[in-house]
Amino acid sequence: MNKLYEKAKNVLPNSYSKYSNFKVAAALKLKSGEVITGVNVENASFGLSNCAERSALFTAYSKGIRKDDISEILITTEQDGFISPCGACRQVMSELMPADALVHLANNKGEIKTLKNRDLLPYAFTEDDL
Ligand code: THU
Repeated sequence: MNKLYEKAKNVLPNSYSKYSNFKVAAALKLKSGEVITGVNVENASFGLSNCAERSALFTAYSKGIRKDDISEILITTEQDGFISPCGACRQVMSELMPADALVHLANNKGEIKTLKNRDLLPYAFTEDDL
């Protein structure tokens, strides 16, 4: 867990968040032990901004990694409090990560709250709804 926190903290300065000045980093742990990181990447057209969780997941999927390869994700910021994934990220996480994957929310001191992916978005829209 500390390793995952360190990996996320190390990439936090890479956050491209010049509009919100709110840096977010995510570290995705695979069952193989590999860790893939992501940060939030904003845009002058604000709605096009991408959250850290989705950056990490899209990077993983771009490398051919899939749902069953993933075991957990950690999300951190520079804040004292714990931030929780936004609704868009919850929807993406519900499809791209296993339901029992762990979601760790870490504050700037490295304190951690852990949830299960399935608990973040009850009644998610899924492929079964199409
Ligand atoms: N943000 C994330 O990266 N992850 C979250 O779970 C919540 C919000 C980003 C989006 C935007 O760049 C900044 O934080 C402020 O909303």
